Amino acid sequence: MKRIRTAVLISGSGSNMVSLARAATSPAFPAAITLVLSSNPDAGGLEKARALGLDTQSVDHRSFGRDRAAFEHEIDAILLRHRIEFIALAGFMRVLTPDFVRRWAGRMVNIHPSLLPKFRGLDTHARVLGAGEREHGCTVHWVVADLDAGPNIAQLHVPVLPGDDETTLAARVLEAEHLLYPRALALALEQFAQKRTPIL
Ligand code: GRF
Repeated sequence: MKRIRTAVLISGSGSNMVSLARAATSPAFPAAITLVLSSNPDAGGLEKARALGLDTQSVDHRSFGRDRAAFEHEIDAILLRHRIEFIALAGFMRVLTPDFVRRWAGRMVNIHPSLLPKFRGLDTHARVLGAGEREHGCTVHWVVADLDAGPNIAQLHVPVLPGDDETTLAARVLEAEHLLYPRALALALEQFAQKRTPIL
């Protein structure tokens, strides 16, 4: 089986990246994680990736000011150099332009800490608690130009327990994310392998 060269894009602690990288140590896993790219040179996830022996790069979004196209141009150049075929966003905190999303359509997935379509955007745990929800969870979805709006690939539900605060709830969801993302990425890659949409 030819494994699909996948980049994991991060901005922070990179715990989801680690769960993907661990899954990809199995030769049966359809992705080879051939690059970890961060929008933040100080991201803790970069150190974790190096410790796992992965190639890392960072493109500091701050040096591009508001020029998102230039920032993405740099990212695209790195992805091309590493012959990346597929992108897994994992805590990547930059909003991507419609152009970038179009170029990678059908080749880019994201993990979001809510049961989409509920609670798109930031601060999901606080909003779930504020809304009195009994259930929360995480979603892996295809990336489209609208934020957190692409078709779902897979979800995992967790309960909201009496006495939960943001910290306890976030920890429960993050544990679920680590279980979900490798399985969902494998599912996404099965779909991708059937279609092989070109990089535009
Ligand atoms: C996760 O909750 C992910 O769903 C969200 O950002 C967080 C990233 O955590 N998009 P980590 O960097 O993978 O530890």
